[in-house]
Amino acid sequence: MKTEIGKDISIAKKFLESGEPVGIPTETVYGLATNALNEDAVLKIFSVKNRPHFDPLIVHVFSIAEIEKYVEAIPAKAKLLFEKFSPGPVTVLLKKKKLIPDLVTSGLDSVAIRIPNHPLTLELLKQLDFPLAAPSANPFGYISPTTAQHVFAQLQNKIPYILDGSATSVGVESTIVGFENNEAIIYRLGGLEIEEIENVIGKVHVELTESSNPKTPGMLKSHYAPSKNLKIREFENSKMEMQTSKIGVIGFDKYIEGIEKKNQILLSAKGDLNEAAKNLFAAMRSLDESDVEEIVAVKFPDEGLGRAINDRLKRASS
Ligand code: TXA
Ligand code: MG
Repeated sequence: MKTEIGKDISIAKKFLESGEPVGIPTETVYGLATNALNEDAVLKIFSVKNRPHFDPLIVHVFSIAEIEKYVEAIPAKAKLLFEKFSPGPVTVLLKKKKLIPDLVTSGLDSVAIRIPNHPLTLELLKQLDFPLAAPSANPFGYISPTTAQHVFAQLQNKIPYILDGSATSVGVESTIVGFENNEAIIYRLGGLEIEEIENVIGKVHVELTESSNPKTPGMLKSHYAPSKNLKIREFENSKMEMQTSKIGVIGFDKYIEGIEKKNQILLSAKGDLNEAAKNLFAAMRSLDESDVEEIVAVKFPDEGLGRAINDRLKRASS
């Protein structure tokens, strides 16, 4: 199958309506989308990605009214989150209605649902009469794609079409929030900062699993990983230990002395964590494809999107 890249919503729509998977842009990372209500179509997603069936998919819709079609209820705090931050990088776990196939939720009784903030994909969703199940459009366990070209590089000839919406603006996946007894629990750190969530619904718990069979498999200990070895170092300690010319660096705003600059990628020269998050996965990819033998990433400040960056680096290093 030849894979085409383009900006034509009607082509994407045609393939999706015939049960084919299509690469779609969102504000976080590119997704590999299919009709969430069609089990045969959903099965293709698992096989194209080589994804285990125990790892459930996020369902994408274009409005809060649409969410109501697929879930039993939206608790008040969940509703607040959607009203305040959607479309945007937040995914909420809600009790599903029967019409969402068990295959999508890996047999769980809640479905992960979000409204992605990208004009092409929102328009596509409006034109479709079904929601889109979409994991990130990378082979299972590898770095998530933030451009249509990244998707092409990894999934060419496996899918017919990639809808090109340029580089994603947030760059890390959505924050995943669930509710237990009216308490919010963060299962995945992501593009929406905890600080912002707490401003709206109060204190949240963070429960990030690192087991090999977690509740949320995106939380597998090893995930989002380049094929080269990746280590994390405090900026201050990184200098003396690294002598070889074969090291690539993912830095924040300052170069590490003693390492060739051409092998160092600064995620944000002006020290902006949002800009750093946006550049993270492309940097991991480019060092993975370069001739360095090992990748060293500095530890980022543990605040705002720095938390999601540190989380992805940690999993990439496992
Ligand atoms: O930003 C994003 O969320 C991107 C874009 C494409 O929307 N999608 C994404 O999907 O990151 P994926 O499949 O790579 O990660 C989804 C995560 C997985 O860790 C999965 O286990 C978890 O969401 N998840 C999905 N449904 C779930 C459910 N019902 N209960 C608990 N976790 C769930
Ligand atoms: Mg993923």
